[in-house]
Amino acid sequence: MTADAAPRKQTTLSIRERKQSGEKIAALTAYDYTTAALLDESGIDVILVGDSLSNVFQGNETTLPVTVDEMIYHTKAVQKGIRRSLLVTDMPFLSYQVTVEDAVRNCGRVMKETRADAVKLEGGSAIIEVVQRVTEIGIPVMGHLGLTPQSINVFGTYKVRGTQPEEQQKIIEDAKCLEDAGVFSIVLEKIPTSLAREVTESVSVPTIGIGAGPHCDGQILVVNDMLGLNEHFRPRFVRRYAELNRSIRDYVKLYIDDVKQVRFPGKNESY
Ligand code: KIV
Repeated sequence: MTADAAPRKQTTLSIRERKQSGEKIAALTAYDYTTAALLDESGIDVILVGDSLSNVFQGNETTLPVTVDEMIYHTKAVQKGIRRSLLVTDMPFLSYQVTVEDAVRNCGRVMKETRADAVKLEGGSAIIEVVQRVTEIGIPVMGHLGLTPQSINVFGTYKVRGTQPEEQQKIIEDAKCLEDAGVFSIVLEKIPTSLAREVTESVSVPTIGIGAGPHCDGQILVVNDMLGLNEHFRPRFVRRYAELNRSIRDYVKLYIDDVKQVRFPGKNESY
């Protein structure tokens, strides 16, 4: 391959095939063009425009307020930065739960207007008709089970899900339902390692874990979390590869100092 030959674009098929090949799927979120381009160039397999943008970009307490229009706005920006990664967009709260028609229209809008490769929907048996219809008309769906943040007001806590036998059974059944309905992968969020392993072994589509242990077929993190942009948000499942909150503060302080001391702009930075 020559240096500027186009890299092989990931597809829902190439992601599905990882289940057999055993090569783990590395996924991250992104909400803007610059970050997406950096992740894509680094070789990330999947970029998710997560509705976590409600928290980390918009500063809301939950993911509930973000709208379809806002998801479209961010996905369009992210898409422009991608050459290789699979681009998945989260469908926000209430954009797919009211009626199947509504879901088709909203998922269809996202695909048409953003050039996303797939959408992600939270939930199991409650949204099976939607998953079936949406995939049937040609929109690939990534499922999401376990701690589904759009249901935080029902859960009442961000603690680990699936610790009790009844909920464990429900998660396993939901995963099988989603597989039957046609999803190409399933995110498993904040569930015990043993349960994630059981789900992973029970379905033929790849599972992508976040706080779900090492046995999933891939892993996903919120990019702001793994880069340490928020000093105080430190859940156990996040590995912080950097402390960018510190670096950014330090660099901004240097800049402020340079401006105040008239060290910036210098000769070479002036006309
Ligand atoms: O919104 C999000 O970022 C997600 C994740 C799985 C990280 O759904």
